[in-house]
Amino acid sequence: MRAVVYEDVRTVGMREVPDATLEVDTDALVRITSSALCGSDLHMYDGRTGANPGLVLGHEPLGVVEQVGGAVQTVRPGMRVVIPTHLFCGTCAMCAQGLSAACLRARADGTGAAYGYAGMGPYRGALADLLRVPWADANCLPLPGQPGDEYEDDFVLLADAFVTGWHAATLAGVEPGDTVAVFGAGTIGLLSAYSARIRGARIVYCVDGVDARLDKAGELDAVPIDFRRSDPVEQIRQDRVRAGLPLGEEKLGGVDKVIDAVGFQARDREHPDQERPGQVIADAARLVNPTGAIAVAGVYPDKDQHPRPGATAHEDLVVPWGTLFGKGVTVRFGRTHDRRYTRLLRDLVLSGRARPGVIVTHHGTLADAPDLYRRFDRREDGVIKAVLHP
Ligand SMILES: NC(=O)c1ccc[n+]([C@@H]2O[C@H](COP(=O)([O-])OP(=O)(O)OC[C@H]3O[C@@H](n4cnc5c(N)ncnc54)[C@H](O)[C@@H]3O)[C@@H](O)[C@H]2O)c1
Ligand SMILES: [Zn+2]
Ligand SMILES: [Zn+2]
Repeated sequence: MRAVVYEDVRTVGMREVPDATLEVDTDALVRITSSALCGSDLHMYDGRTGANPGLVLGHEPLGVVEQVGGAVQTVRPGMRVVIPTHLFCGTCAMCAQGLSAACLRARADGTGAAYGYAGMGPYRGALADLLRVPWADANCLPLPGQPGDEYEDDFVLLADAFVTGWHAATLAGVEPGDTVAVFGAGTIGLLSAYSARIRGARIVYCVDGVDARLDKAGELDAVPIDFRRSDPVEQIRQDRVRAGLPLGEEKLGGVDKVIDAVGFQARDREHPDQERPGQVIADAARLVNPTGAIAVAGVYPDKDQHPRPGATAHEDLVVPWGTLFGKGVTVRFGRTHDRRYTRLLRDLVLSGRARPGVIVTHHGTLADAPDLYRRFDRREDGVIKAVLHP
């Protein structure tokens, strides 16, 4: 089969690799119809995670079941399915509580696993013709319709991007009437903002420094905040004042909930050509209202393998605990427990209440992967979310 593989820093290629096959009788084999590129891939692409050459990339699969093992009960050949990024067994103590991203059985050396990701288990990725799906009954979510129909882009985002945005809004505890700020207007930030609006937030700010992404945030009914202009925390505070703070509530001039959809590769606002891993968490701590909440959906590694010159692997990940303690802020982190949300979000799509596919900007084939990864990594040509069709 054809697959997109990691070759070296900022180099991926389409290669012939051995076909994915059924390996145990609880597996399904899925023929991929859509498979998306993700900002998480860029951490590997940029050489920041120690990915091995030859790793098949991709963790956002949508497709049609081709074969199932003898022990699979509910999934049948011909079914259209979306498959969550974080694969899981469905029966361990964590899965039983719906905490699928912390599955105890999917990875020998830790909790939780993912397709096509360095350090997340031995599973090959989904930017390929075929994907082996372990524990198929748990991991395949059935979908109506036909490949290529009007829902193809919405459904592929149920694998990871929309569920992560929804999870971020859940971690932040976004409720009707909240004021919310999202840092990052990549796919995850945009769909966090979109989720916050669906959940009734009264206003959602979306901070970034890339024009196409700020424009998209505006299309999704968020207020774009361009960090290249000036300190985004001050811009948002000024907008809150303009909106009118009730008498006596001037100390609540920040926002109730903040979402970090950037992670450790955050840009240093004063030197935008450089990274500053603690930039977003520092801004979030300044902006959040007393007793508010911060949700961290952006990825932070155990240590930064390539700290800026003069910094150590750990010092740049320092967090302003004093500010957070003083304000009594709740901070929650983590990978998405995809399967908790996939049914709900599928049904929001089918009822017309959500159309996350509006954030998809580019389509291509597996052969387009090298070019699309390059443009995505450089934030060029308006690439926000690219979906490949093998
Ligand atoms: N928790 C999960 O389960 C999960 C799932 C998917 C992705 N992620 C992570 O979420 C993060 C975002 O993913 P994505 O696909 O949107 O990535 P992306 O790279 O497309 O977007 C990141 C955005 O952050 C912006 N940014 C950089 N520095 C900033 C700063 N200082 N302030 C505000 N914005 C800044 C960039 O301009 C870019 O638009 C990544 O770290 C990714 O690994 C987590
Ligand atoms: Zn992803
Ligand atoms: Zn499990």
